[in-house]
Amino acid sequence: MTPWQGLINSRYRRLLPVTDRTPAVSLHEGNTPLLRSRHLSELTGCDVHLKNEGANPTGSFKDRGMTMAISKAAEGGAQAVICASTGNTSASAAAYAARAGITSVVLVPRGRVALGKLGQAVRHGARIVEVDGGFDDCLRIARELADRHPVALVNSVGNELRLSGQRTVAYEIVDALGEAPDIHCLPVGNGGNITATWQGYRTYRAEGAATRLPRMWGFQAAGAAPLVHGEPVARPETSASAIRVGHPATWRGAVAARDESGGLFAAVTDEQIFEAYRMLARHDGVFVEPASAAGVAGLLDRHRRGLIDPGRTVVVTLTGNGLKDQDASLQDGYDVIPAGSSTAEVVEALRLTA
Ligand code: F0G
Repeated sequence: MTPWQGLINSRYRRLLPVTDRTPAVSLHEGNTPLLRSRHLSELTGCDVHLKNEGANPTGSFKDRGMTMAISKAAEGGAQAVICASTGNTSASAAAYAARAGITSVVLVPRGRVALGKLGQAVRHGARIVEVDGGFDDCLRIARELADRHPVALVNSVGNELRLSGQRTVAYEIVDALGEAPDIHCLPVGNGGNITATWQGYRTYRAEGAATRLPRMWGFQAAGAAPLVHGEPVARPETSASAIRVGHPATWRGAVAARDESGGLFAAVTDEQIFEAYRMLARHDGVFVEPASAAGVAGLLDRHRRGLIDPGRTVVVTLTGNGLKDQDASLQDGYDVIPAGSSTAEVVEALRLTA
């Protein structure tokens, strides 16, 4: 069997807008684990599977879209790309641009990006602009700059390429399960991922690979839940920094995903997000970043309210890797056992703290 070569050179190539002239700028993204969660299945009475997108090369689902966006930018001879980001898009853009030999410019909200993500952009050589504002300000500026200057915008807004790459997550899930799930849960920020995932399921059913479609359940942080309220939020606030978005750019796509699938948007509190974040690490062995746990938080919330029928097949996207945000992982404090440098002292220290 040929080893995995990334999305553009995978069996999904025919579903991507590439030609023989498109260079595959790839870090071998995609083909991420779909793990059955025994813990969440027992808790909810459903068959719950976790799509671990943190296993992508730069640690988030963004790589699926970025391989497409940067490959096409390279094909078009772009010298520079630009994006706005809460962190993951900038890390991904910086890595793929580095691989393509293209300059990347990333606009991030000052003081509001997990350090691991900033570190990625730094190491990959991005030009990092810290904007005195939120993600929505960064995106507005990035769009204006891309309109006026010879720099390609690689945010999913207006970038059908990004969405085409992100659709592949649905193809992989259907191929792994042999059918689409009943329900697909995921965190929602700017709206691109729920849009692309839904489109992916539709495309794959049209191909005959699945006979049904899931309901799309999108979860936002309570302090940053414009799609839940049906109107933009001027000052979005949540500790889950990746989804601190007040004015989602892919609003219409996200609403279409909900409406066409008979799905829903709902809000989860930061407490619920962090509870799910801890639970995933503790019981499933999957370390995600806080925002990534919003889909699990939402599933648990609906289960507790009696709003989900047992026996359903549920897939939850875990969008990003926990290693990116160590402030979050250590924020509760943690216990260490001090010991000397001999085996006997370690044995003694363990006994004393048992
Ligand atoms: N989860 C994580 C870890 C994210 O980084 C994002 C978005 C989302 C969920 C939400 O996905 O925007 O497609 O609805 N991060 C963007 C960024 C905003 O700049 O990295 P969405």
